[in-house]
Amino acid sequence: MGTEKSGSVFIDGCFDMVHFGHANAMRQARSKGSRLVVGVHSDEEIIKAKGMPVLTSEERYEAVRAVKWVDHVHEASPYSLYMSTLDKCGCDFVVHGEDITLNADGEDCYSIAQRMGRFQFIHRTEGVSTSDIVNRVLARYATGFDHSAAQSKYTGTETFLPSARKIAMFSNRTEPEEHHTVVYVDGSFDLLHPGHLSWLRTLKESIPNAYIIAGIHSDEDVASYGPTPFLGVHERGLGVMGCRWVDDVIFNAPITVDKHMIAEFGINVVAVGPSGADYPVDGYVLPKEMGLLRTIEGPRPMSAKTIVDRIVARQAEYAAKNKAKAEKERMSGL
Ligand code: CTP
Repeated sequence: MGTEKSGSVFIDGCFDMVHFGHANAMRQARSKGSRLVVGVHSDEEIIKAKGMPVLTSEERYEAVRAVKWVDHVHEASPYSLYMSTLDKCGCDFVVHGEDITLNADGEDCYSIAQRMGRFQFIHRTEGVSTSDIVNRVLARYATGFDHSAAQSKYTGTETFLPSARKIAMFSNRTEPEEHHTVVYVDGSFDLLHPGHLSWLRTLKESIPNAYIIAGIHSDEDVASYGPTPFLGVHERGLGVMGCRWVDDVIFNAPITVDKHMIAEFGINVVAVGPSGADYPVDGYVLPKEMGLLRTIEGPRPMSAKTIVDRIVARQAEYAAKNKAKAEKERMSGL
């Protein structure tokens, strides 16, 4: 057993389109102390430093709050970190990945914290970044997009390898107990967004003692009922595993919820959103017959298409931003 660490840790960032790389940063940060405060920059600050984020401040606050290693979100945190922010949040030190973050004036945002001995590095998760996800959307939908010009070590695609250790580090390692209601949800969970996250929170809050298992459909199955997912099944699954409302995840879950699944996982409720999904087959015939199916509405009418539409609407801006970011990273030798 590891020894419990004490102290409050701070991590800040844009956390645009929160992905498992961000969640892994928060996991590492939380393991360095007993409390984690996450500073999330406002839209205004991000626009000044590097351009428009895809999600609004409110959406990004909500997405960060859904990450299970987060104790508190410090909203509208300044882009450059001052010791007054750390003190106000009751934090001893800040952590950041190995990549350098420069403010609008080209200064390192963490130089003061480093000088004051209140800075620690965490390992940046390779193979995923917001820019990379935006690039994947642009590569499919934007006209004349030069993917190679927008790639660097931190924005390159498909270098993520899902080892058992990485998956285990994201796992709650809990089993459902007698008093739990085992709730099964399934889908693609592509571009994990506040629409998904707020719906999962609603399930957790509205079903007493819910133990939520999320089934993540395979890349092939998702492509059979919608666009090919932008993230692979392990990337999508790890994102969902980072969510505080979810207790377990099934990778490559079948579209049809059959009697073996229901028995093996002890499923008491199969929950779907009101729109349901356009699956090629009705996967819920048996849950319906058994009276397990429940339609539960989420508070946010948001979908992966909402995200794609926002990126496509600003395609030139995002392509230029990602190209500039890749160039900056190449020049700084990262
Ligand atoms: N981070 C990480 N691994 C990633 C992406 C981000 O560890 N794959 C860390 C960053 O190093 C930082 C924190 O997450 O400590 C917040 O990052 P953020 O400000 O959102 O911006 P970026 O570093 O630009 O992340 P991204 O490239 O995904 O936009």
